[in-house]
Amino acid sequence: MHKSLIIATLLVVSLCFAAAQQPLTSPKQAKIPASSNVTDLTEYTFKQTADGRVWFVEFYADFCRNCRRIASHVSMLADNLTATAPHIVVARLNCEEAERFCNDDIRISRTPEMKVYYLGKHAITYRSDFFFFDMMHEFITNTAANILGWDAPDAAAAAAGGEGEGEDDDEYDDAAMAL
Ligand SMILES: *[C@@H]1O[C@H](CO)[C@@H](O)[C@H](O)[C@H]1NC(C)=O
Ligand SMILES: *[C@@H]1O[C@H](CO)[C@@H](O)[C@H](O)[C@H]1NC(C)=O
Repeated sequence: MHKSLIIATLLVVSLCFAAAQQPLTSPKQAKIPASSNVTDLTEYTFKQTADGRVWFVEFYADFCRNCRRIASHVSMLADNLTATAPHIVVARLNCEEAERFCNDDIRISRTPEMKVYYLGKHAITYRSDFFFFDMMHEFITNTAANILGWDAPDAAAAAAGGEGEGEDDDEYDDAAMAL
């Protein structure tokens, strides 16, 4: 009885010790789930952004906490625009899996990052808040109207404001990754 209690105690202690001994490097992160209205791009399919529609692409990595936090907003935005704006495509590209492409070819230096592409070329980078759905919605609808030359009085202002804002940068520094 007494002996088994000691053995049990030793077992518990050694289990706790084992748990505390996990390596400091984080284990491989679970994938950020796909959403059917968000087009998954890779370095090989990126040329799809030249199809004449306006592409709003989120560059992400599975280990990036803020990418995880904004995933539902990006997905909601895609659902909304699928219903209302067939000329806009919401997409994402995993920069962890396409490191060289992100770093060298399209010069993405951190995640999350959201950029607009038109005819396969980078048009503008989204610099406002990733956590406010309406802000992203207004930015991309105005930017798309502006790019396509539609009548949108706020488009130029939104585009200029979007590019000029740098004040939110600090908030994302912890999510920045050296690719
Ligand atoms: C995609 O968007 C459409 C239009 O908003 C919506 O009806 C549909 O439920 C969305 N798909 C998913 C899987 O959410
Ligand atoms: C899309 O989002 C905008 C901005 O929040 C909203 O005004 C509009 O009603 C939404 N449309 C749909 C179909 O969800």
